[in-house]
Amino acid sequence: MIYTVGGIKGGSGKTTIATNLAVYLVHQGRDVILIDADDQESATDFTSFRHQTLSGELGYTAVKVTGRELNANVARLATKCDDIVIDTGGRDTVSQRSALTISHVYLVPFAPRSLDIWTLRKVENLITEVMPFNPNLVCLTFINKADARGNYKEETADLLRESTAVKFIDNPIGNRISFANAAASGLGVIEIKPVDEKAVAEVTDLYNGIQNAMKISTKKKKSTT
Ligand SMILES: Nc1ncnc2c1ncn2[C@@H]1O[C@H](COP(=O)(O)OP(=O)(O)OP(=O)(O)O)[C@@H](O)[C@H]1O
Ligand SMILES: [Mg+2]
Repeated sequence: MIYTVGGIKGGSGKTTIATNLAVYLVHQGRDVILIDADDQESATDFTSFRHQTLSGELGYTAVKVTGRELNANVARLATKCDDIVIDTGGRDTVSQRSALTISHVYLVPFAPRSLDIWTLRKVENLITEVMPFNPNLVCLTFINKADARGNYKEETADLLRESTAVKFIDNPIGNRISFANAAASGLGVIEIKPVDEKAVAEVTDLYNGIQNAMKISTKKKKSTT
């Protein structure tokens, strides 16, 4: 499975989600390649911290690939592993578009803030342009950095739910210090001690939500063919 984590808003949590997903898959016994497709190289930094923390036992293969030919590189890498997770930058880049032509799933985190939600239309337009090249791409939105208080999370969820271009999955990730702390050591939140049970449950639920959405989409495709 090829997962691309993207969107066109900086700081929505793409790298946090991509690295936590990669680590989660590793703990499922999957052979994973984490691709850094962002010139900022945050996923690469994460891997460097991980290298130090785990004395080189990364658990996944880290690769930096950017540019128009990213899809060709990913196609070759996909024959050598179970899953690929691609972390893209916070803009509409050639790398992100190239990644979307070869991915199975497009994951777009949204922080429940107005400036973030305003980028939904742009994400929808991007998807509309990419779909002809990859009609089977499953595009999913979800909330990241949800605050425990306030109703902005619900308002954001309602706006995301309305989209016909992207499917909203109701598996929010909370705004939790453990995500930042884990990342500073190059770890996924499922790996840190003391265990943040809520964060672990959220990552598990998000993973299951993605798998369910994939199953539903495959069933739909079968019934229409
Ligand atoms: N669920 C979360 N809880 C707490 N902090 C978070 C969460 N998600 C992301 N962050 C923090 O928010 C900041 C931005 O996150 P991240 O780097 O993952 O975003 P990004 O979308 O990859 O940014 P960029 O667009 O620059 O690539 C980081 O400091 C990260 O630790
Ligand atoms: Mg990033």
